[in-house]
Amino acid sequence: MAQNWTPNSWRQKPISQVPDYPDAAALAAAENQLASYPPLVFAGEARRLKSQLADVAAGKGFLLQGGDCAESFAEHGADTIRDFFRAFLQMAVVLTFGAQQPVVKVGRIAGQFAKPRSSGIEKQGGVELPSYRGDIINGIDFNEKSRVPDPERQIMAYRQSAATLNLLRAFAMGGYANLDNVHQWMLGFVKESPQAERYRKLADRISETMDFMKAIGITPESNPSLRETDFFTSHEALLLGYEQALTRVDSTSGDWYATSGHMIWIGDRTRQPDHAHIEYCRGIKNPLGLKCGPSLSADGLIELIDLLNPANEAGRLTLICRFGHDKVAEHLPRLIRAVEKEGRKVVWSCDPMHGNTITLNNYKTRPFERILSEVESFFQIHRAEGTHPGGIHVEMTGNDVTECTGGARALSGADLGDRYHTHCDPRLNADQALELAFLLAERMKGGRDEKRMVVNG
Ligand code: TRP
Ligand code: MN
Repeated sequence: MAQNWTPNSWRQKPISQVPDYPDAAALAAAENQLASYPPLVFAGEARRLKSQLADVAAGKGFLLQGGDCAESFAEHGADTIRDFFRAFLQMAVVLTFGAQQPVVKVGRIAGQFAKPRSSGIEKQGGVELPSYRGDIINGIDFNEKSRVPDPERQIMAYRQSAATLNLLRAFAMGGYANLDNVHQWMLGFVKESPQAERYRKLADRISETMDFMKAIGITPESNPSLRETDFFTSHEALLLGYEQALTRVDSTSGDWYATSGHMIWIGDRTRQPDHAHIEYCRGIKNPLGLKCGPSLSADGLIELIDLLNPANEAGRLTLICRFGHDKVAEHLPRLIRAVEKEGRKVVWSCDPMHGNTITLNNYKTRPFERILSEVESFFQIHRAEGTHPGGIHVEMTGNDVTECTGGARALSGADLGDRYHTHCDPRLNADQALELAFLLAERMKGGRDEKRMVVNG
């Protein structure tokens, strides 16, 4: 167990991105209430995810992580969850087929509510108010009352996470994810998109394979792996009071686990080695993500790895790189070399969203070609360094939103106003997400063929 660590030892450390709760007693009451509630996930599930990520770290798999930038209380419908899950399954199946490797499926969902902000204050037309920090903390409406942090929101976030997770478990295990349904995952609006034909062809090949297997006696009824999938949850562990309240000892191992989600990550703004967020995360046994941006030095990274994964356990740590399409070539190689030199076991994942945000017509957006470009560079750099490009981390939705420009339907700046619904950052719509998955599959196939060529001489 981590030395001198307790679930609340982070409280002795400097901390950034904390909300200003006006009523400390009400905050403590909400946290105590949460501490008495059941865990959202089990330690055994987190261990299962860790072992799947260990395979990815060893080059035998690919991590697909995605979902909303921020979940919201207002959009908690079954349709939203189902549409996300469908789009995500489509991506997963395209990647599995393309890479001929297992795909580890992790949603940014059922707990992704708290947002770090670059400024504590938001200004609109001469009025200054505290920034919106995510529905778990305050309201998005621009008025004084809504922006006051309210501890009751933590209870609501917990309950929403439980309901979301319940539906996701049903979808993953209850038949919806059955490979027999591969055609049905196509969303209505994607049917008319340029990706549709490509997807249909792939789905046809899978159906044909399934029919062949059925003919020889391998059916979804007799083989759970054909009808079920492991789906895990993740979020940024930003609001540490909430995380602490859901930190529990696993009775099997005696270890501490965050039970708010299977995997949690540390943001690029809160990864100071002697600060609270690193302190909290080092003591729990879940798989961890660490966001790596341009300001992270090679030595700084090794210092953080020492703190978060001193035993060099494969699957414990995923480095989620978010440099920007024009900076990835400058920063990624130096981090890879440092990690390789020190022999650290990590999963390298690419977040092509957060370094590519621009403002266009007063909307925050991300040009799809820059997202693709960062992904391309990520793959090329790993090939050149001889390391495994292990995963992707995206902000996406199953809805037909217009938040990122570009893609096969060539969304323009003028289209952004049509269906711009995000509570925070711009997300890929289902169409763009699928297009990205096809590109990834091609790159992974490329890598496979290259390896084969080397083996065959
Ligand atoms: N169980 C396997 C897996 O999760 C195969 C599988 C079943 C699957 N349903 C799926 C793969 C849906 C992708 C999408 O990989
Ligand atoms: Mn975001």
